[in-house]
Amino acid sequence: MKSDQYLPQVRAQYEELPYPPRDPADEKARLVRTWLDDLAMLNHYCYAGRQSFRDRFRVLVAGGGTGDSTIFLAEQLRHTNAEIVHLDLSRAAIDIARQRANVVGLNNITWVHESLLALPALGLGQFDYVNCLGVLHHLDDPDQGLRALLSARKEDGALGIMVYGKYGRSGVYQMQALMRLINQGAPDATAMIRNTRDVLEAAPPTNWFKCGEELFHDHKHGGDAGIYDLLLHTQDRAYTVDELYDWFEGRHGLHLELTYRGRGRSAYLPEMVVAPQQAAFLESVRALPLRQQYAIAELLSGSVTMHTFFATQSAASRAPYGNADYVPGFFNGPSGAQLAALIRQHRSLPFMVDDPATGIKGLLTPGKYGDFIVQHIDGRRDFGAVFAAVRAEPALRAAPPDDAALFRDFQALFEFLTAIDRLLLRHRTVEPVSNSGI
Ligand SMILES: C[S@@+](CC[C@H](N)C(=O)[O-])C[C@H]1O[C@@H](n2cnc3c(N)ncnc32)[C@H](O)[C@@H]1O
Repeated sequence: MKSDQYLPQVRAQYEELPYPPRDPADEKARLVRTWLDDLAMLNHYCYAGRQSFRDRFRVLVAGGGTGDSTIFLAEQLRHTNAEIVHLDLSRAAIDIARQRANVVGLNNITWVHESLLALPALGLGQFDYVNCLGVLHHLDDPDQGLRALLSARKEDGALGIMVYGKYGRSGVYQMQALMRLINQGAPDATAMIRNTRDVLEAAPPTNWFKCGEELFHDHKHGGDAGIYDLLLHTQDRAYTVDELYDWFEGRHGLHLELTYRGRGRSAYLPEMVVAPQQAAFLESVRALPLRQQYAIAELLSGSVTMHTFFATQSAASRAPYGNADYVPGFFNGPSGAQLAALIRQHRSLPFMVDDPATGIKGLLTPGKYGDFIVQHIDGRRDFGAVFAAVRAEPALRAAPPDDAALFRDFQALFEFLTAIDRLLLRHRTVEPVSNSGI
């Protein structure tokens, strides 16, 4: 590694404890899917649904660690001429990521042992997608890191970012402060980790980290690397929604699309946070600008431990609603037929969804034709074809609704399904590449 632009203690941590801990042999049995990096998500949010991923698509995974994003992206792009560049400060982490790639025979990845702060001088070229998850908040100057990432992004390219959420991690920072006090005389990382395990055992339920312990997994399932990363990190900061917007939008003019793992934007929507309750204060909250609604939801739920989001040049990078040339496809959830059955069960009246397994809650408003529409969505037909199929339904043949009426009728359901990232769009002119078939 040529560059000396990094924090030595951060590099030392990730050399000793590569993160996340991964056994390359596991690759034979499973593929780790990272939330932001599904090509269907990327296409919907970053390329207005028009990215084919077949024209020398270039990806940079900056601070890629042991390779979750890199392997998932490279796997999806396996049969294309795309190139994935995995860059990290830690040689040990790169070695694990490379072994994982070898186990599954991926040869579309380039490995770069460097600091992302050196990007402007590395000559790696420009990228369509720059992934940087859980890294910027470990830099001495996160904005310098963001500027370096932007220097590597094509003009119309996108960033996929994760930084920590301030309120959701309140207990983590108290535990970090506690461990700094207790670990003052600890000789090495092993002793510090041992002390932390002891404290986790002994702390009373009133301890603030214990109160929200279920929000975190690293200390339970991440081994030593997980405990260190969560509770002993020497360089770690977090952001509120407002700070995030001030930084990405205010300072860099970027457009943000927030999507919390598994729950999408619903984690930032106050009415979905309090559902199934219908509190009166929501009425005035609904009238506020979206950014303020997101800030309210973050404080209301207390559970946003990280912000995962796309940052693009403008809102036009999101696939538009209301164009019959777009193909809607279900993603990570029920099929159109299953959803249609559910809607009919509720006689097409609005009903409350409250799914503890995914944390998804909210009022689903099917509209007059929602059951027919979702039934004909198959990830292959565009809205034009879906609507034609709806009009051909025997029940609707007498007074068939036109496209505009169907788009209007479906809007509330579309917004619900896209707020939880269960329905995504791509333009009819591009074929799906993604495993999810959208
Ligand atoms: C918490 S891990 C996240 C790994 C991966 N992005 C993920 O989400 O699984 C942070 C990673 O960033 C790397 N890192 C930290 N500072 C860096 C820098 N200046 N340049 C490149 N990588 C860095 C570390 O070596 C580590 O692998």
